[in-house]
Amino acid sequence: MFRPPLKKLSAKRRKPARKQEGPRPVYRKDYKAPAYLVDTAALDFDIRDKRTRVAATLQMRRNPARTEKNLPLWLDGEGQDLISVSLNGRTLSARDYALSEHGLQIKKVPAKFTVEIVSAHDPQKNTTLSGLYASGGMLSTQCEAEGFRRIAYYPDRPDVLAKFTVRIEADAKTYPVLLSNGNLLAKGKAGGGRHWVKWRDPHPKPCYLFALVAGRLGKVSDRFVTKDRRRVLLEIYTEPGNGDRVKIAMDALKAAMRWDEKAYGLSYDLDRFMIVAVSFFNMGAMENKGLNIFNSDCILARPDIATDADIAFVERVVGHEYFHNWTGNRITCRDWFQLSLKEGLTVFREQQFVGAMHDDALERVRAVRALRSRQFAEDAGPTAHPVRPDSYLTIDNFYTATVYEKGAEVCRMLHTLLGAEGWRRGMQLYVKRHDGSAATCDDFAAAMADANRMDRAQFMRWYEQAGTPRLAVTSKYNARQKMLSLTVRQSCPPTPGQAAKKPFHMPFAVGLLDSEGRDMGGTHVLQLRAPVERFSFTKVPEKPVLSLLRGFSAPVRLEYNYSDEDLLFLLAHDSDAFSRYEAGQTLMRKYLLAAMKGKKTAAPPPAFTDALARVLADRAIAPAMTALMLALPSEHEIGLELAARGQLIDPDRVHRARESVRGQIAGRLEADFAARMQGLKPDARKADGKTQGVRALRNLCLGYLMAADEKAYAPAAMKQLRSSNSMTDQVVALALLASSAAPERKPALDHFYRRWQNHELVINKWLAVQAGASRTDTAAAVAALLRHKAYDRKNPNKLRALAGAFGHGNPWRFHAPDGSGYRLVAAEVRAADRLNPQAAARLALAFEQWRAFEPKRQKLMEKELKALRALGAGKGGISRNLFEIVDKALVAGKKPRK
Ligand code: BES
Ligand code: ZN
Repeated sequence: MFRPPLKKLSAKRRKPARKQEGPRPVYRKDYKAPAYLVDTAALDFDIRDKRTRVAATLQMRRNPARTEKNLPLWLDGEGQDLISVSLNGRTLSARDYALSEHGLQIKKVPAKFTVEIVSAHDPQKNTTLSGLYASGGMLSTQCEAEGFRRIAYYPDRPDVLAKFTVRIEADAKTYPVLLSNGNLLAKGKAGGGRHWVKWRDPHPKPCYLFALVAGRLGKVSDRFVTKDRRRVLLEIYTEPGNGDRVKIAMDALKAAMRWDEKAYGLSYDLDRFMIVAVSFFNMGAMENKGLNIFNSDCILARPDIATDADIAFVERVVGHEYFHNWTGNRITCRDWFQLSLKEGLTVFREQQFVGAMHDDALERVRAVRALRSRQFAEDAGPTAHPVRPDSYLTIDNFYTATVYEKGAEVCRMLHTLLGAEGWRRGMQLYVKRHDGSAATCDDFAAAMADANRMDRAQFMRWYEQAGTPRLAVTSKYNARQKMLSLTVRQSCPPTPGQAAKKPFHMPFAVGLLDSEGRDMGGTHVLQLRAPVERFSFTKVPEKPVLSLLRGFSAPVRLEYNYSDEDLLFLLAHDSDAFSRYEAGQTLMRKYLLAAMKGKKTAAPPPAFTDALARVLADRAIAPAMTALMLALPSEHEIGLELAARGQLIDPDRVHRARESVRGQIAGRLEADFAARMQGLKPDARKADGKTQGVRALRNLCLGYLMAADEKAYAPAAMKQLRSSNSMTDQVVALALLASSAAPERKPALDHFYRRWQNHELVINKWLAVQAGASRTDTAAAVAALLRHKAYDRKNPNKLRALAGAFGHGNPWRFHAPDGSGYRLVAAEVRAADRLNPQAAARLALAFEQWRAFEPKRQKLMEKELKALRALGAGKGGISRNLFEIVDKALVAGKKPRK
């Protein structure tokens, strides 16, 4: 965080924000251990109508790790009115401390002391959704990363761990439920219709894991018995009336608790685990100790009001936040540069969990698709950064696909290199060494390496270097010697601030297929270290077909000159499900790029559509996998592929090419899709993995049929919309109709709105479907919806459903050649930034890839970015969050930076 130099601080003179130079970054290399530690923190919340008063009593002492004498005490604090400060019981006067808009400094403190700070603020006015804020009728907190400083004056950094006691007093009618972390100690009545509770969390924690919830809430309870027979009370709190929507989450929670015990030997460590659903939330969910807080759209789910994708996401997020109890809470991060220590590792654990619950291969395909479309894009753009960044302006902007998804890939590579047993040993050592403390990415890698006698020096480059490595592979088969040689050249393109890269250490999984399609010798995990590596396989009786990068063993771009025949062969036979999927995708990419080149669109060869027909008919493939294998890459993914090949993107051509290939596949396989669809009869009340898969394949068929003949199949889509009790079926049908020119289009949208107008989360889908429609009038429709009563830009779910779905999910219309899409999103970014800088910065990322587009669009996007940047950061201008995104987008790629 940007802090003015301490010597310039004074209680009266406040430094104005500097507009010209822009705010200064924080550097990882500047890390210093805290000067003072907090042993216990007692927080007293007095909640009143327009004001919440917080008294924080902190028992503190000098940090023995800091040897300098007379270090001042710094407490972060923002957006609060300071009422009083006392040190060891003595009230300080304004002369005894220095107050700025970022915190307060006490010049002299003894080696051990108690400081009590009373402050107040109004949560009703807090639209940033960071700190303590009102969401609907309730109050709720979000402290990660640096929100606690908006609640109390405190050393707001993750390496200060304290035991918290919390007292909350509030009106008993408005706020009957009062929650905080840990165990409930006592409760009672106060005067004037008020009541109070007291909570204590026995586990020392950084303040970013603090949470408080107050409101009128219903709850669903259950219980879990740990492997050592301790009983844990499980509670999910929601707005009253939503109790019938938490079964999926509760089941997922119990499954996650069991799985962590089985897979890692890690049990839950409190008597109570609570989850609260809130409707205003910037992220998906938050792992506060013993009191997870969830965006309602990540917890409330039932097949009739949530799609299968929503349901799967609920399970994933519940697992993810629960797994943080060990990887994040028991072992936390030393500083925010180490964020991937908890997030990358927890995403990896979450992927293992989802794979184990459902299907490993499906989960792998899903994870790789997410990685490529979000993280590879990031790595190729102006905000590219290493898994462990070196600097930031705003930590909020660093909850990125690189920290999360690539961080998870780094864990997966260790898992592959060390084997499942080696990984487990490493995790055990990591927990043993660092439980109860704040650690670094290096500590984690050291534990993994030490438990396995691995030399980690070269592997650490995955934390240090940004960019997606490329593997250029060539092969030669010598029939006389029965020998196959492979040559693998690795390289990594430059990224902002990193011109030259050193080679990475990575696993490269390879299979060899014989002419019958059988594996010759299973999967070989080769290790790459040098820029060029050669491998030879002996006793290879015939020329094999190569299955390269099985399971996507490393987060790289593979370059190998596959023939169409080889790819068709892999698509038909590869024993590795991921590679099989990938072979089909590689072919699709090839034909899509070809269709973009020719004036007349090139047609995919019959051999390919025949192969797709065989995949479609193959009952040995799980329907969910069939659906993934038959889906064309999105327009966004095609754009990324062009950019990776050094070509500028023309969104019109991308759209036309994709429509054309889709239409041709659909036309040739119309009868196949219709026939397969007939046999698929998913139960609308069910949403287990198998039913979800059947539904996904059925809806994929419907999509292709609409592409084959919109007019002919629109009535079927309309019928599905009206008659299916599955929200998935309804949303798919609605989306197909909304993108069409069929007469059913408007009636479909009206029908869906009337039916669901009182279901906020469902109506968000109605917004998103319209924002994502492939029609030339979409920008105008979105502009109108921005004024619809269903829209509220203060609610991040709605901002995402409308402006987000348009800017991030509808490239063809966002990049409309007249710039109308850009203007619309830029205006919404500006408006949102006044309320919620985090959400606005996220939306502004829609402009991030501007240099990848053809010159006309580049100019139009650059104009919007420049207009935003010209406003400057700070008072009267744009937020620091938004400034960082806009500035990086404009600066990077301009001139090489050192
Ligand atoms: N710790 C994060 C939530 C968070 C992120 C809070 C940034 C504040 C700022 C949480 O564990 C998380 O990662 N949530 C994800 C969902 C998950 C399934 C990847 C999210 O909210 O998107
Ligand atoms: Zn997380």
